[in-house]
Amino acid sequence: MGGPRNPLAAVVRAALPAGIAVGASTVRPASPSEPPQRGQHRAGREAAAAALCAAGVPTEQPLPRTATGSAAWPAGTTGSISHTDRIALAVAAASEGFRRLGVDLEEAAALPEGVLELVSSDRQLAGLAGVRAAGGGLPLDLVVFSAKEAAAKALGGPEAGPPSLRDIDVTLVAEHWTAGRFVARGPHGQVLGGRYLEAAGHVVTACWQDASGEGPA
Ligand SMILES: CC(C)(COP(=O)(O)OP(=O)(O)OC[C@H]1O[C@@H](n2cnc3c(N)ncnc32)[C@H](O)[C@@H]1OP(=O)(O)O)[C@@H](O)C(=O)NCCC(=O)NCCS
Repeated sequence: MGGPRNPLAAVVRAALPAGIAVGASTVRPASPSEPPQRGQHRAGREAAAAALCAAGVPTEQPLPRTATGSAAWPAGTTGSISHTDRIALAVAAASEGFRRLGVDLEEAAALPEGVLELVSSDRQLAGLAGVRAAGGGLPLDLVVFSAKEAAAKALGGPEAGPPSLRDIDVTLVAEHWTAGRFVARGPHGQVLGGRYLEAAGHVVTACWQDASGEGPA
């Protein structure tokens, strides 16, 4: 389960600004009578509950789903969920501190060839040569893809589906061999600050816009 004692949650929490709480959970297989994605969904809700608890907003029922597919976060909070076959991660914060949050998890393996090109603008593609040349211990195409997914979730929500990944541009700034920060720019000029890191065999990206709507300096 999640919470401060979960090692993955602790590592991700340490990388993020104060005020963003993190929860994580392990995916258990769905029962034969359930749709296969059910186990991931359930672990995501457990991670969300752990993140909200860490944020000081304990919940009793799993978060409902909104019409756009996002989770309905309790009044006064915002958050985001991601899951793979193995783990689920969620971030949560008080709305008075953060307007938007997004998180994404990807198994740390090379992104299939051509995928990033499919979801990138010409401007994004022009910057990719620099990203690849920067090297590092992570598949950086995958980091860019994941950062786009995290930003799509932050920019989506109950009122709107996520924007197309093509309309989100990501600039990476490597800080360590397997971690760094990024800035994501949305289709309407929104600017999100973000962090990426490797943990538990996954690339983790998380991004945020503070309550003032200001992006990172
Ligand atoms: C919705 C989307 C962001 C989900 O991302 P994903 O990597 O497929 O899956 P993840 O496990 O990381 O995240 C799933 C969670 O995203 C959240 N989510 C779904 N719709 C959302 C929305 N409109 N806004 C914010 N979050 C949303 C949900 O909490 C979901 O988990 P749940 O169904 O258990 O509640 C993604 O499918 C998407 O639509 N991306 C943008 C569109 C695009 O250009 N896609 C091209 C992909 S090649």
